[in-house]
Amino acid sequence: MRRRVAPSVLAADFGRLHEQVREVVDAGAEVIHVDIMDGHFVPTFSMGPSVLEALRDLDVLLDVHLMVERPERHVATFASAGATNITIHAEATPHLDYTIHAIQDAGCTAGVAITPSTPVEALAEIRGELWSALCMTVNPGWGGQRFIPASLDKIRRLRALIGPDVELEVDGGIDVETAAPCAEAGASLFVAGTSVFGTPDPGAAFRQVSSEAGCS
Ligand code: DX5
Ligand code: ZN
Repeated sequence: MRRRVAPSVLAADFGRLHEQVREVVDAGAEVIHVDIMDGHFVPTFSMGPSVLEALRDLDVLLDVHLMVERPERHVATFASAGATNITIHAEATPHLDYTIHAIQDAGCTAGVAITPSTPVEALAEIRGELWSALCMTVNPGWGGQRFIPASLDKIRRLRALIGPDVELEVDGGIDVETAAPCAEAGASLFVAGTSVFGTPDPGAAFRQVSSEAGCS
């Protein structure tokens, strides 16, 4: 499976959001990661569907990461705002299978994320429905945290569980140091916030992380 870096707009300058995203798209980004936080599932707030609407004119795959409780209530909102893929948390709803089908019925692909304390087996029964399986490599809620080293073994076990055809997305603390070991462990989609938008030249930083991840 082709490896790709997905810059996360959580770390972008919101006063220049469109311009900053265009810089990474011009540098080759095909996937843009958008973090939605509700102040409940995670204690922080981030952004809502209007951010997707502001980016939907760009020719990119909008990868929406819902860190919200009961995501089934919000699928239609984010699908109509322009999401391509919608990822929900296994910990956020007792109705994973229902929500995955609601996402697909709304015209999007579906992903499921697990936090560091959730075992990979949480995805066992629904893996055949997924475009992506997202392994949080920090605790969700904040950008700029350090990569949790035990994630590498978890990524290997997750890749074995989902097989070769599902995107294995890693999210949190991905940079020029951590991208290569994650790639070696089986990751295919690398979310990078601070390591891309926290630098003076996001386009160049995107290319560097992509190179370390072995993207072609
Ligand atoms: C964290 C978010 C991440 C965040 C990653 O809860 O899910 O997508 O943007 O940020 P960095 O790359 O700075 O760790
Ligand atoms: Zn995320």
